[in-house]
Amino acid sequence: MRNIIEVAGLTKRFGEITAVDHIDFEVRKGEIFGFLGPNGAGKTTTIRILTGIIKPDSGEAIILGYDILRNPLKAKQFIGVVPETANAYIDLTAWQNLMLTAELYGIPKRERHARAERLLKDLGLYQRRNSLVRGFSKGMKQKLILCMALISNPQILFLDEPTTGLDVESARFLRSYVRQLSKQGTTVFLSTHNMEEANKLCDRIAIINHGKIAAIDTPENLKMKSKGLKSIEISFNKPVDVEAIRKVTDASRVEKLGDKIKLHTNKIDETICVLVNYARENNLKIVSLNTLTPSLEDVFIELIKKKHVGAD
Ligand SMILES: Nc1ncnc2c1ncn2[C@@H]1O[C@H](COP(=O)(O)OP(=O)(O)O)[C@@H](O)[C@H]1O
Ligand SMILES: [Mg+2]
Repeated sequence: MRNIIEVAGLTKRFGEITAVDHIDFEVRKGEIFGFLGPNGAGKTTTIRILTGIIKPDSGEAIILGYDILRNPLKAKQFIGVVPETANAYIDLTAWQNLMLTAELYGIPKRERHARAERLLKDLGLYQRRNSLVRGFSKGMKQKLILCMALISNPQILFLDEPTTGLDVESARFLRSYVRQLSKQGTTVFLSTHNMEEANKLCDRIAIINHGKIAAIDTPENLKMKSKGLKSIEISFNKPVDVEAIRKVTDASRVEKLGDKIKLHTNKIDETICVLVNYARENNLKIVSLNTLTPSLEDVFIELIKKKHVGAD
């Protein structure tokens, strides 16, 4: 089987809001699949449907051949979840939390201990296994929740914004651990609003906004597809008026980034000429000038903008 998850026409409404709006996608075995979107895009709702916590209004989701609606128990046995909000008991120790989770999955006692020990060691929590979770930092809690999600040896791991609110070091550690899991054959479904995280980690990314999928592709293809989104970054020896630059060029977007100005345009040559002329006429020196291929962020903003037009 090539596709480990197959989703068709999935829709979920909360009153007036359509949180997930007829989405279709597949996740391939072994890949890290990213669900990238701003707050309120529908990421958590999608994950909660796929992991059998809530029911969709329509559409279907097949996990390893099992329909999550018709066969939830079968489907769920392949799944591990790191939810958006922590789910460890703070008045239990790390070890007790893991044992409890393992018991829920019906993992035999000897196996339980061996797995818990290995996971806690891998994630650097073994020394603290007998401490109450209450005293854990956010990073440690998140690592423990990951251990709990992995205790059943799941084929698919769902991670809902796993690094949000973590310190840089813990976030980096979690990302490298996810990469390692993927190398060992675990399929990963990761939601994030962090462009760089998606770019660094994912084999393919679905960009989701207002419950709809705007694009699905590899990070590099997403960037390639928007060749028209080239940009120029320029800095001058003196502060310049961004509005004035906006007026003389026909760039689609002009932004001030620190001491640099970034212009988004597909007419690179013409825009450079205009900028050189502008500098000459205003007695400015150009300190640096670079042309840039689009970043994932540029693609993202472009796609999100497009979806807004007509929607609002
Ligand atoms: N239980 C709920 N009741 C009402 N509205 C909800 C509920 N869960 C999510 N929503 C709404 O659905 C939309 C999508 O939310 P969510 O899936 O949490 O987005 P994301 O995880 O991408 O930030 C938001 O507008 C949110 O307010
Ligand atoms: Mg969310």
